[in-house]
Amino acid sequence: MKNLPYDIKGFDHCELYVSNAKQTAHYYRTTMGFQPVAYRGLETGNRDSVSYVLNQDRINLVITSPLEKNTKIGAHIDRHGDGMKDVAFTVDDSEAAWKTSLERGAKSAMEPKEIKDENGEAVVSAIETFGDTIHTFVERKNYKGSFLPGFETNDLGVKSESTGLVHIDHVVGNQPDGEMQSVCDFYEKVFGWHRFWSVDDKDINTKYSSLRSIVMANDNEIVKMPINEPADGLRKSQIQEYIDYYETGGVQHLALSTRDIISTVRTMRANGVDFLPTPKSYYDTLRDWIGPIDEDIETLAELGILVDVDENGYMLQIFTQPLQDRPTLFFEVIQRKGSNSFGKGNFKALFESIEREQEKRGNL
Ligand code: FE2
Repeated sequence: MKNLPYDIKGFDHCELYVSNAKQTAHYYRTTMGFQPVAYRGLETGNRDSVSYVLNQDRINLVITSPLEKNTKIGAHIDRHGDGMKDVAFTVDDSEAAWKTSLERGAKSAMEPKEIKDENGEAVVSAIETFGDTIHTFVERKNYKGSFLPGFETNDLGVKSESTGLVHIDHVVGNQPDGEMQSVCDFYEKVFGWHRFWSVDDKDINTKYSSLRSIVMANDNEIVKMPINEPADGLRKSQIQEYIDYYETGGVQHLALSTRDIISTVRTMRANGVDFLPTPKSYYDTLRDWIGPIDEDIETLAELGILVDVDENGYMLQIFTQPLQDRPTLFFEVIQRKGSNSFGKGNFKALFESIEREQEKRGNL
């Protein structure tokens, strides 16, 4: 099922439902360098919820909280904790995207609606995907405002210091055991995406907390969504730990690209972002298999940055600790130097690190 009658141009924004949007926005602003650009809340006439839009280069995060009891947002937070509600796509025709998706078996989360303000107009619609997650289709028709109609430009008078994050490289969804294939089938059927890359539990020593993963990608591979499920190992899979706390399938991590991972991670660390620790032994053997790279391995070791290589080049990556108290959503910082890999060479080191954290939480 290819030949979509509309075009998905890329990730538009990701929206988090959290219990205290003001403080969450402050965290992403001060530790990761996102700039508040738009706002919707009591002051703009929105009585039931508040949203802060944060931007860095081509990344937009929307942080939303309810302003009253018994809301859908509040119910989402009660069930899942703070988490990612919406992975929104920029499209050229929101109504066609919605209609086509429904024809191909998707369920509607929001019928197409035209929204407008003094800066112009846009059309938004949405479909459901795994768990309680949705995909909004955003079509901006010559919209000149800072985000979308209904939002006001957020003029806090603060200038965030960028940490060098550029764009959303991929968004990963965790699924309960046995549901990975059906979610991949959904993306194949509804969007015509293909299986770009996969890893199964045989690729990973089962001593380590295990997973299966398939990366779904659109035709030009600009939009990539790896889909994971837990696999049996001797210990509890990190994916199962996520499912235990999130209760359903949901977004596990956002991978954000940078052109200089050393500078980005150094700044984020200094700002207070906690990353997963990498054992020193990883760097003792790195030189033996990685081949020539531009970066100084001592510096990578100091910052805990992982490296993986494939036939096209290499990539550098690091993972934050969970970004809220439940061990659910986290971010990845990634710099690609030719490689399109998803870090399979790092799974063992990464899983060992995650396992040590799971053990501290009593969840292994
Ligand atoms: Fe990733």
